[in-house]
Amino acid sequence: MLSAATILVIDDEPSLLEVFRDLLSYRTDVQYKVITANNGQEGYKAAIKELPDLIITDITMPEIDGITLCKLLKEKPETTDIPVVMVTGLDDNDLKIQGLIAGASDFLNKPFLPEEMITRIRNLLKMKEMTDHLKNEAHTLEEKVREKTLQIEASFKELQTANILIKHAYLEAITRLTMAAEYKDDETGTHIRRMGYYAKLLAEFLGFSAIDCDNLFHAAPMHDIGKIGIPDHILLKPAGLTPVEFDIIKRHTIIGAKILSESQSDILRTGEMIALSHHERWDGTGYPRGLKGEAIPVFGRIIFICDVYDALRSKRPYKPAYSHEDSCEKIMKGDSKMQPGYFDPAILDLFSRNHEKFREIFDSALAPGARS
Ligand SMILES: [Fe+2]
Ligand SMILES: [Fe+2]
Repeated sequence: MLSAATILVIDDEPSLLEVFRDLLSYRTDVQYKVITANNGQEGYKAAIKELPDLIITDITMPEIDGITLCKLLKEKPETTDIPVVMVTGLDDNDLKIQGLIAGASDFLNKPFLPEEMITRIRNLLKMKEMTDHLKNEAHTLEEKVREKTLQIEASFKELQTANILIKHAYLEAITRLTMAAEYKDDETGTHIRRMGYYAKLLAEFLGFSAIDCDNLFHAAPMHDIGKIGIPDHILLKPAGLTPVEFDIIKRHTIIGAKILSESQSDILRTGEMIALSHHERWDGTGYPRGLKGEAIPVFGRIIFICDVYDALRSKRPYKPAYSHEDSCEKIMKGDSKMQPGYFDPAILDLFSRNHEKFREIFDSALAPGARS
């Protein structure tokens, strides 16, 4: 850089500018490019425009003096690293202190020896060159870090996409296995799919986190997975189950929980919990354990009411399909087979205030006979 270095000289005395030009352009072993300015204002503009490697400035000048000029240049990021040399009289100690505070790198005392001036300038230019080099290095390093960060981000996104695909495949596999278990009385799988939507709706109203709601959404279809262990002649019997047969039917809760047990997956663990508890009733008359009130896991209480609503709306071997209104009335007011006391009162209240949403889910693309 030294041979091509640009030096800006600012002085309101034209004769002094000529002396500098002469010394720096012709009387050194390297030829610097010298640009000059007659006052502080012009000097400031030239510094911004040319971005010289070094600035030599007089201190006492009209309008903008050398110290103010130096301060202004140090405040601007693009000129802050340019060394500023101030030309002073021998005894101007106060000015020198002010100059140092303003950011001056060195001083030249008038009258100065050409050799001394050139040596000082050469040293400052070397320092500037090193500073520029370090700045470039830092910039290159910054670029490399940025590049690597972008690469890592891209890999992370790819990984996320792969994870999403794996999760989808995993969830689809679970849904299909659950459908296989329910195939005997829910050929299209629409009942188990609707269960996810009803259950998520209630869980959201109850203030569960998005992750919990999502887990319940995916786990809800597994509530009856244990039916796979119940003989067809009992499961599909149109009516009139004997007490023994009913006891066998009840076992689907325990079989389901067993199928889903000891899993590392939150979804399957939720599935296990609801398989076991979705026939428990708030008043303690449910099965398999006859749990009462809050002893029943809340997701089990949610699934219970969703399952009852959907079963009422659907045609089964032992019953017709009821309208939305009739189904709601049976749940909210009870009938010969059902009491409102079966349900968690808070969840029953949520159901009664949002039953239209249940109707929407039932009437959606997931309706019986619809292809999903
Ligand atoms: Fe069940
Ligand atoms: Fe069900």
